[in-house]
Amino acid sequence: MIEYRNLKVALLGGGNVGANVAALLLEHGDELASRAGAGLELIGVAVRDLDAERSPSIPRELLTTDAEALILGADIVIELIGGLEPARTLVLKAINSGADVITGNKALLATHGPELFDAAEQVGAQLYYEAAVGGAIPIIRPLRDSLAGDRVTRILGIVNGTTNYILDLMDTEGASMEDALAKATALGYAEADPTADVGGYDAAQKAAILASLAFHTTVPLDSVYREGITEVTLEQVQAARKAGYVVKLLAVAERLAIPGTSEFGVSARVHPALIPLEHPLATVHQAKNAVFVEAEAAGSLMFYGAGAGGKETASAVLGDLVSAARRHVVGGPGVAESTHANLAVLPMSAVTTRYQITLTVVDEPGVLAAIATLFAEHGVSVETVSQSVTGHGDESLTATLVIGTHAATESSLASTVEALASNAAVSSIESVLRVEGL
Ligand code: HSE
Repeated sequence: MIEYRNLKVALLGGGNVGANVAALLLEHGDELASRAGAGLELIGVAVRDLDAERSPSIPRELLTTDAEALILGADIVIELIGGLEPARTLVLKAINSGADVITGNKALLATHGPELFDAAEQVGAQLYYEAAVGGAIPIIRPLRDSLAGDRVTRILGIVNGTTNYILDLMDTEGASMEDALAKATALGYAEADPTADVGGYDAAQKAAILASLAFHTTVPLDSVYREGITEVTLEQVQAARKAGYVVKLLAVAERLAIPGTSEFGVSARVHPALIPLEHPLATVHQAKNAVFVEAEAAGSLMFYGAGAGGKETASAVLGDLVSAARRHVVGGPGVAESTHANLAVLPMSAVTTRYQITLTVVDEPGVLAAIATLFAEHGVSVETVSQSVTGHGDESLTATLVIGTHAATESSLASTVEALASNAAVSSIESVLRVEGL
């Protein structure tokens, strides 16, 4: 029988993920100890309400409401409280007491990441956060370690399960946005306030974390462009499928050349986008997540799986626990967060992408030519046009034009759309969607 050194583990938060972490740690402790080379003793679970119902249940003797006292006795602290405070204060306390910290808190990392990483570096502690993006999906460690020898150029992520579930139900069953959201909420996918999901805020936090890691640059949350799915209509989703696309809420992080210089910058954005049906991300259904990574040498990689769920996310937390324990056994300062590239963080106006614009226009001679000229005048090159005669307007025949563009800047597109809106031949702009993954 091998005698292991014992490491004391404190768990902050007894919610869905926390309860599953406690249960799995108590159940598989010996196996994890063999992998870590150290015993992992759960010394307590800090909760707000000792009497709350938990599933799975946590032994009563492990529960405490005194998180600060629990932290002081721990070698490794797992923070699964969520939100900014008291999580930030407790994580800083844990770091400053010399503990390694494991967190699944995307809001905390996206908002206060640099402060926490600096604090950890000062004392030689480690901060692990595999569970913060993509639940069970290993994506943090692949970006930080496996791809450390490569240069990532782009990430396209479906990183919010609730919105993927909603858009998928609209696409596959013709459900309305409202019905699909109600189902997602009933199934427990949505955040307590679903605005975080449907507004794209949850995905923006994850985009900031992925972009920072992939491009070795601090990407602040407020530099992530964000649009949610609230404006997406069933008509758009159905028209997209007919045209060979599916609508997904994407987190896009890119390394972009800065025009007129030899420099590169980073951009991160979240918005609904059309994805060709043959792209691997188009096969991501229901509440599943996937992160599609493009790297110079590795080419394209896709990481797919459960983006949420208590037991699933606990898997990522326990993986971090084994890594943290191994470092305690081996010693040494650990890996500091890599921000060496320090690239410029670019605004959305610097991004170029393709667009699909659907217009209802008056069906008269010269209209198509006038619209094509308008695109040209604003520096947007048209790639495809399809027209169908749809009916009669007040006085004239109307047609629907679906225009696909070559890559254009956001600013060129915005001025094109503005000009279209005030053009007499345009009855209405039905939809403007970005196209990704071509
Ligand atoms: N509400 C989130 C989602 C949970 O729908 O993906 C995981 O962060």
